[in-house]
Amino acid sequence: MPTITAWGNTEAGAALSRHMLTIAEPGPDELLLEVLYCGLCHSDLGHIDEARSATDPPVVAGHEIVGRVVALGQGVDPARLGQLCGLGFIAGTCRHCRYCLSGRQTLCANFESTILGRPGGFASHVKAHQDWVLPLPDGLDPAAAGPLLCAGVTVFEPLLGGAISPTAHVAVIGVGGLGHLALQLARAWGCEVTGITTSANKRDEILSLGAHQVQLLGELDQQQGAYDLIINTSNHALDWDAVVGALAPDGCLHQLGLCPTPIPLRVFPFVKGNLSFRASLTSTPANSIKLLEFCARHQIQPLVEVLPMDQINTAIARLRRGDVRYRFVLQGPA
Ligand SMILES: NC(=O)c1ccc[n+]([C@@H]2O[C@H](COP(=O)([O-])OP(=O)(O)OC[C@H]3O[C@@H](n4cnc5c(N)ncnc54)[C@H](OP(=O)(O)O)[C@@H]3O)[C@@H](O)[C@H]2O)c1
Ligand SMILES: [Zn+2]
Ligand SMILES: [Zn+2]
Repeated sequence: MPTITAWGNTEAGAALSRHMLTIAEPGPDELLLEVLYCGLCHSDLGHIDEARSATDPPVVAGHEIVGRVVALGQGVDPARLGQLCGLGFIAGTCRHCRYCLSGRQTLCANFESTILGRPGGFASHVKAHQDWVLPLPDGLDPAAAGPLLCAGVTVFEPLLGGAISPTAHVAVIGVGGLGHLALQLARAWGCEVTGITTSANKRDEILSLGAHQVQLLGELDQQQGAYDLIINTSNHALDWDAVVGALAPDGCLHQLGLCPTPIPLRVFPFVKGNLSFRASLTSTPANSIKLLEFCARHQIQPLVEVLPMDQINTAIARLRRGDVRYRFVLQGPA
């Protein structure tokens, strides 16, 4: 059994420390990646805070991985050995339920997450099913590409899945790891783009990320009927009447931030305006491949601050207080 080095915690909120762990050899259709880089997503914080007991195996987060294939399970094409690849939040699905068969694998009841119940990417190595380990196209910087595999594909889903027209006006609430990619993608998609922020000091950066306009979140009630699509990456309770009021007829509020409190929405504006509310979890391998190609073609890349893996506690502390422009990437070796 391979021994790996991994950064994890066993009690909620505790600092991460280095652990030696053993994992099973790659099974049929699985690959082992040597982790070169791994982004730090806001969802990792929730996972780290779920650690419960010193007697449990450490929680090892990290699901925006760029790595090299170093071992293959049975049935994997030998040509994949040595490939430079990316891996996101999902590491495998059943492949034979109705959702897998129709290419909607994120809905598979038996999906395996890269970080739930197993060590994720803040480690020397990570294991995943070959369908979810995607070759990086030429033209993407491996040090910056990791966040495309979670943040990037998550915000691409509203454009792709919502079949958003290039004539649409798209607004993005929250310009963090997800939001700064949503702005770039929506601009390259051809849309009119507005960045909606709580941080007035991000204004110039938001414009340079592709937004045509910047709007302060607290002044959203002045934007009645403005947007065809609002991609909400914030996980905070908002003035939901103002958010819904800012949708144009036929508009959609696409919720991506994991807001822990219920979202109270009045029905009448939805009925009157033919509005919709959508939400989604990451996206499929097919959409991830499209995203990687789209980003390579349009020179879209995450703005990252790269730190060595042993500075992961600094990155976590700074992400918790919003002190990041716009994504931390931890560089191996762990
Ligand atoms: N659905 C999915 O599949 C999926 C995938 C990945 C992540 N997520 C979730 O998406 C959310 C965002 O993740 P992230 O990695 O982008 O986080 P992040 O980098 O921390 O960005 C979150 C942004 O929220 C905004 N914000 C901060 N305080 C706020 C407040 N009081 N009110 C409103 N907005 C505020 C900030 O943008 P401004 O400074 O511009 O206001 C901040 O940059 C998290 O809940 C994460 O768990 C979901
Ligand atoms: Zn994530
Ligand atoms: Zn399935």
